[in-house]
Amino acid sequence: MKVVIENIDKVFKNNNNIKEVLKDISFNVNEGQFVSLLGPSGCGKTTLLSIIAGFQDATEGKILVNGLEVKKPGPDRGFIFQNYALFPWMTVKDNILYPMKQQKISKEKRKERLSELLKMAHLEGNEHLYPHQISGGMKQRTAVIRALACKPEVLLMDEPLGAVDFQMRQILQEELEALWLQDKTTVIMVTHDVDEAVYMSDRVIVMSTESGKIIGDLEINLKRPRNREDLEYESYKAKLTSILKDALNYDKKDKEIERKGINKGEQIV
Ligand SMILES: Nc1ncnc2c1ncn2[C@@H]1O[C@H](COP(=O)(O)OP(=O)(O)OP(=O)(O)O)[C@@H](O)[C@H]1O
Ligand SMILES: [Mg+2]
Repeated sequence: MKVVIENIDKVFKNNNNIKEVLKDISFNVNEGQFVSLLGPSGCGKTTLLSIIAGFQDATEGKILVNGLEVKKPGPDRGFIFQNYALFPWMTVKDNILYPMKQQKISKEKRKERLSELLKMAHLEGNEHLYPHQISGGMKQRTAVIRALACKPEVLLMDEPLGAVDFQMRQILQEELEALWLQDKTTVIMVTHDVDEAVYMSDRVIVMSTESGKIIGDLEINLKRPRNREDLEYESYKAKLTSILKDALNYDKKDKEIERKGINKGEQIV
């Protein structure tokens, strides 16, 4: 098991305000698996991913990566923030070199890895440009190889294509998949897009809106690259959409229970 997520609870306390965001989240991810966390806005996806990254602590439970408990961020976990988050004042090359410098990788090794990564992402010849001088696709590939620079055990991506328009998004999904297929790093990706989840993932974990629970766990058994026209592809999408709809109803029920002061567990007809 590459990643073990064990009984994670997360409660935010601000003054007198207590917010339970994640409730008893447990799942395992196998080596080389591409797993998506799918769920509506506010369900706790970013919170969970940043706990796995070690940016935040869980209130309860623990995360193991390669059998070792996560206590803080580390080079075993690469992270891609929403909208790529490249350093705008650094060239493509310096963006990619940055994490390797942080890890004190020797100059020679850095140079070697840089040219390997540029080749992998078809970015050779563009390394001296700044983020504002390259296309959305190139930015995304730069962010991916920057996250892969130190050969992480696990790649964590928070809606890496969140701000991209529909057509561009499909092109970038294909590029991202092609990059991933080259070395099959274990991936956990956050998305709220059902189509993206089916296109990219080996497995999709669905979270409910407000109760911060897992309400679905579906393996996508389709050949890669996936064909969006395929009937089976459509049926996976339909299945996930229906799980999400159930989630919304489930949350409504939860709210109604709260409003009416009914004990949880009692049926609302
Ligand atoms: N530091 C914090 N203090 C208090 N509440 C927080 C904090 N961080 C997140 N939350 C709350 O936790 C909930 C989950 O937030 P999170 O960012 O994990 O959601 P998300 O699923 O990533 O949503 P989105 O799809 O919109 O990015 C939200 O209700 C948010 O307001
Ligand atoms: Mg988020």
